[in-house]
Amino acid sequence: MRIAVYPGSFDPITKGHLDIIKRASKMFDKVIVAIAVNSSKRPMFTFDERKALLEKSVASVPGLDNIQVEAFDGLLVDFMHQHDSRIIVKGLRFVSDFEYEFQMALTNRKLDEEIETMFMVTCYKYSYLSSSIVKEVCSLGGDVTDMLPEAIMDETVAEIKNRSKK
Ligand code: PNS
Repeated sequence: MRIAVYPGSFDPITKGHLDIIKRASKMFDKVIVAIAVNSSKRPMFTFDERKALLEKSVASVPGLDNIQVEAFDGLLVDFMHQHDSRIIVKGLRFVSDFEYEFQMALTNRKLDEEIETMFMVTCYKYSYLSSSIVKEVCSLGGDVTDMLPEAIMDETVAEIKNRSKK
């Protein structure tokens, strides 16, 4: 069974993430979307909230039956071992992503040489998009209609506005 892990902060999930999930779902028997700690970011949403938003978004797309959502706070390679996976899937937007992603891919291979990272080029429609952009636009009252999955739109917009006031 080919099991891939798609790790990220997902704070919150965007349409760009959901696009990668849909495409990865067709390539592997199972895809585990793994919410992880990025020590250089301070998240707005808790693990449980991010997990609930991901699960709701995935459930809104018919046929995404091979997607599992998990959250963990350790090393990605340890999580991969626990879930019997050797393949990391990541979305790649711009050249600017490349340096950081390349460093992470090499770090993970250094920690375990069996681990492979596969990059999927993000759909051009979402190539500008990130969770940070969504939070910034939304907290300043901008329109994020094309940025967030419809299934989580209203609650996420309300929460971002509410939390960014504090
Ligand atoms: O969406 P992000 O913030 O770019 O995702 C980065 C993430 C969470 C995948 C990365 O920070 C990560 O793998 N964290 C888990 C801890 C770990 O294994 N770190 C060493 C590999 S760089």
